[in-house]
Amino acid sequence: MATSVNAVALDESLMPEPVVHKQAKQTIDPYNVSGEVGEDGVVKAIDYNKLVDEFGTKKIDDELLARFERVTGKKPHHFLRRGIVFSHRDFEAILDRHERGEPFFLYTGRGPSSDSVHVGHTVPFEFTKWLQDTFDVPLIIMMTDDEKYLFSEKRTIEEVQGYCSSNAKDIIAIGFDPAKTFIFSDFDYVGGAFYRNIVRLSKHITLNQARAIFGFNESSNIGRIHFGSIQGASSWASSFPHIFGEDETKTVGIPALIPCAIDQDPCKHLMLVGSVSRDFRMTRDVSSRLKYQGKPYAKPSLIHSLFLPALQGPGTKMSASIDESAIFMKDTPNQIRNKINKYAFSGGKVSVEEHKELGGDTNVDVAFQYLRFFLDDDDELEKIRVAYEKGEMLTGELKAICIKELHTYVAAFQERRAKVDDETVKLFMERRPLKWGGNPRAPIV
Ligand code: TRP
Repeated sequence: MATSVNAVALDESLMPEPVVHKQAKQTIDPYNVSGEVGEDGVVKAIDYNKLVDEFGTKKIDDELLARFERVTGKKPHHFLRRGIVFSHRDFEAILDRHERGEPFFLYTGRGPSSDSVHVGHTVPFEFTKWLQDTFDVPLIIMMTDDEKYLFSEKRTIEEVQGYCSSNAKDIIAIGFDPAKTFIFSDFDYVGGAFYRNIVRLSKHITLNQARAIFGFNESSNIGRIHFGSIQGASSWASSFPHIFGEDETKTVGIPALIPCAIDQDPCKHLMLVGSVSRDFRMTRDVSSRLKYQGKPYAKPSLIHSLFLPALQGPGTKMSASIDESAIFMKDTPNQIRNKINKYAFSGGKVSVEEHKELGGDTNVDVAFQYLRFFLDDDDELEKIRVAYEKGEMLTGELKAICIKELHTYVAAFQERRAKVDDETVKLFMERRPLKWGGNPRAPIV
């Protein structure tokens, strides 16, 4: 029999109260996506095809990837090839512009909620860096320190500002090019052209819409209700005149491509269309209704990635506050080895004999799942998959490969991170013109 699923949004503070689903089908609404409940009452894995169908994003298919390769001359990133970056809205429009030599930019962000950055946090940023290298366009990274203050009962402004600068260092350590990247904190940057856009956006969202989209109620503080217009206004190029120029009749038509992670709550087997995705849906809607001196506002395009599963396997969530759940970017090689060996959920069988006979399950095996994220070589990954599924490779051997790849990934990060100091952060966060070689060939100014 079907059991009820308690679908709670990732950021519970956004929800008036938990939404309860009492049906067996996969559900998708603006707040949550839950897997189908089987006869046995167990929630099945999320069907991503269904998600994209029902929520109105598009699946990234082979045809789109082939077009991407034709247009950019670059082999799609392994996140794209393996369905880790799996859905989009209007990504084709960005490829059209790239083909025609018309400008666009990348926009992403991070809410500085703690100092503990784990490998899962780096995934969307790794992908963003790759997009920046591929398209050679400006990148804007928003640090939503205001959001992390507004949406928490405990955090102080001083605390989130502290996280903001340490998180900025971690982001810089991914390897972004300072000539093409502008990082800002909301607390510092609001004002001028950006604030004009925030107010423009907020004027076109009613309280009723905000409630329907985000689920606020009478007790929600008004800062939270307004926050979406701050996050949304960064997807308009005219919020950054030092990069795109002062002439709004020109900048109003330059769209953003926003790489973002789709929120998930694997603990409850739910995939949540989180506040970030909802916010950009709203911004797209307002953009299509707005004009500046007769010129239409460009709608942002989106490209969605999945999160890395926690060490405990499918059905658990990596948490910045639970050390055994995640590999942190500060972990030592020993800590990484111990965590993988001790905690990484195994898809192997209980005994060596049984494993050799029946083989392992790579779909649930965390070490294998991590290799999908961190091992670029398709042939090698396929060899590992086949050997493990046939039972020729044992769990210990698979874990050893995973540990090696994570060691390489984390060590390279730590080496870059050690070189990032306060001066580097200042450089990235200074309002200055950027230089890029992509479309158009020179800054628009
Ligand atoms: N709200 C996001 C967070 O809590 C941060 C963010 C701001 C963001 N703008 C974005 C994330 C654009 C992705 C894309 O982490």
